[in-house]
Amino acid sequence: MRLEEFLKARYPGSVGDAVLAVSAAAIDVWQKIPFMTGLVSGMNPSGEKQTEIDVYANDVFVRALTSSGIAAEVASEEMERPAMGDGQLHVSMDPLDGSSNIETNNPLGSIFGFYSERLPCSGERMLGAAFVTYGTMVTVTFSSGGAVHRFVAVNEGQGYSYRLMNESLVIPRESEVYGVGGLRKEWVPAVQRFVSYLEERGLKTRYCGTFVGDYNQVLKHGGIFAYPALKTRPKGKLRILFETAPIAYITERAGGYASYGSGSILSLRPSSLSETSPAYIGSSPIVKELEEMLRKGNA
Ligand code: F6P
Repeated sequence: MRLEEFLKARYPGSVGDAVLAVSAAAIDVWQKIPFMTGLVSGMNPSGEKQTEIDVYANDVFVRALTSSGIAAEVASEEMERPAMGDGQLHVSMDPLDGSSNIETNNPLGSIFGFYSERLPCSGERMLGAAFVTYGTMVTVTFSSGGAVHRFVAVNEGQGYSYRLMNESLVIPRESEVYGVGGLRKEWVPAVQRFVSYLEERGLKTRYCGTFVGDYNQVLKHGGIFAYPALKTRPKGKLRILFETAPIAYITERAGGYASYGSGSILSLRPSSLSETSPAYIGSSPIVKELEEMLRKGNA
């Protein structure tokens, strides 16, 4: 089934329109990656270097969401202030996740959260979320109140369209893989102990350094992705609005759990657009075990 038909039948309204708009824009972004790998002179609001494709992807997605009457605002990791539109949705996005991986040809991604309220606000105000993976295939994975679905881009001779790849994706409860960001020596002691325990249990390490690429492993095989609290950075690295809340929304719709250490990431109410939190995301049983270990303390 094609994405347009699926969304029209099941998700009429602004979230369906937004998923369609970003899916079309993602093809444009993907086709430009080989031509835009250089750095630009600016930095993003978090002080990270920007590549040409970061800036291009940001502009393409902002245009797709604001010029079509879909978004009231689009807040992006790449912009100091949100772009305004005359639609209803409040959108948070990381237009190109993992751009430091461009030259190594690891997967990249784009992440979107769709909210009913002015940003920043709690994940409890989310109406849906989506992410794109530019990997061996270009896929769009989304949920809006119901199950999680995935579509894949195909070219059947008349340009790209999206076809249904997985309906109602579920994260396995059994854990096979784990990936943890940051340096091991910087992890808080409870996380160090937990990772040793995962190794003893025989889980396989999977880490490529692009959040959605690593998360996809967990969604498929079961396990945990973490960007933990670090000794020098207790609130972790990943941004709640742009990165972890949308993936938390999808995770919990797929039957998994996304924790900041002692509760759901979706319950967090960030006070700024780029606020970060630790993130422990994946199969429910293993994420709850880690929460328990964190509760017992970091001594
Ligand atoms: O936030 C950007 C990002 O590249 C994520 O996609 C990824 O999970 C993380 O940073 C990797 O960070 P590190 O290199 O510290 O493991």
